[in-house]
Amino acid sequence: MNILVTGGAGFIGSNFIYYEREVHPEDRIVCLDALTYAGNLSTLKPLLNDPQFRFVRGNIADRPFVRALFAEEKFDAVVNFAAESHVDRSVENPELFLRSNILGTQVLMDACREYGVARYHQVSTDEVYGDLPLDRPDLFFTEQTPLHTSSPYSASKASADLLVLASARTYGLPVTITRCSNNYGPYHFPEKLIPLMITRALADQPLPVYGTGENVRDWLYVKDHCSAIDLVLRKGRIGEIYNVGGHNERTNLDVVKTILAALGKPESLITFVTDRPGHDRRYAIDPTKIHTQLGWLPTTTFEKGIQTTIDWYLSNREWWENILKGDYQKDYERLYGGARLGENTK
Ligand code: NAD
Ligand code: TYD
Repeated sequence: MNILVTGGAGFIGSNFIYYEREVHPEDRIVCLDALTYAGNLSTLKPLLNDPQFRFVRGNIADRPFVRALFAEEKFDAVVNFAAESHVDRSVENPELFLRSNILGTQVLMDACREYGVARYHQVSTDEVYGDLPLDRPDLFFTEQTPLHTSSPYSASKASADLLVLASARTYGLPVTITRCSNNYGPYHFPEKLIPLMITRALADQPLPVYGTGENVRDWLYVKDHCSAIDLVLRKGRIGEIYNVGGHNERTNLDVVKTILAALGKPESLITFVTDRPGHDRRYAIDPTKIHTQLGWLPTTTFEKGIQTTIDWYLSNREWWENILKGDYQKDYERLYGGARLGENTK
């Protein structure tokens, strides 16, 4: 197969490309990525001389560019990871999220129709379901849970999902969708909770925990997400949505304390800061469908995954130190600087 992977210079997309090269070395991968602040070509450096791999810089919302690439490459399948992915940034600039996440998805699907691509896979998120109350641990997101979004990010992802289903129904486009819980692992951009806390703790900087730190996320090691996408791409039923998660719920405070303990750093680094507006309380996936229909199960426990991730950040300092030295740092100051950091809400 000749597979287009969009957003492959980001966190999950790059892990997926490495997974595919390992598990299906016969397939060819073309990575299309705009290299936004979150895209990092150095992540893909070991593949740049691989004859079964091609990197193309471009925007998925650029219709003429996308059409030309499809005409040239004659893809068999498309896996769309490309998106603006950070909730806090979406609060600041929603429009960018609409362009990349919604319009970009439509442009890719239109190209799939025009060039007869056999499979379009949309990488979505559990955030399209909104959140669950903290005092109802019996509730989980299933594929039937209504869409009920909270942030411009999740609203843009839900909009894209609706357009994917519309393309299937109206034009017969052969689509699948996966909705996964929070991922963690190597190459995770250090603005997201886990890599942010690891890199800041290593520098003995305050660790900004939003609100009281009681919000719950359902963490999945990134390689387990990649294996789920691979399975759905090859064996999933056309037109279907699959939730992906490993029943691994933790409060943010638990996660931060686990990281501090693993690094031998004091809990006094924890700083409670002003809560995120509209902050989702709890995410929790019911992965029964992908397990019973496709046999998928995660293989990495949180204990093992978090240690592997911490070890990766310890032995790949150059990767994230280069990011921290760049424009990202300026964005970080603008988004979180001044009053918000250090302000204690407890
Ligand atoms: P990321 O921000 O690390 O990477 C996104 C990549 O997409 C970057 O390389 C960026 O340069 C690229 N990109 C952004 N806009 C683009 C555009 N218009 N055209 C081309 N490339 C563009 O994100 P991630 O965490 O790897 O997430 C990947 C996908 O998985 C997203 O669609 C996200 O919604 C979804 N997802 C993420 C999580 C998570 O926990 N991170 C969980 C479930 C689903
Ligand atoms: P994040 O990694 O941004 O993922 P998402 O919002 O998509 O789940 O945040 C994970 C959780 O951690 C979320 O509840 C917000 C919280 N959080 C903090 O407490 N402090 C931080 O500095 C960040 C980035 C997130």
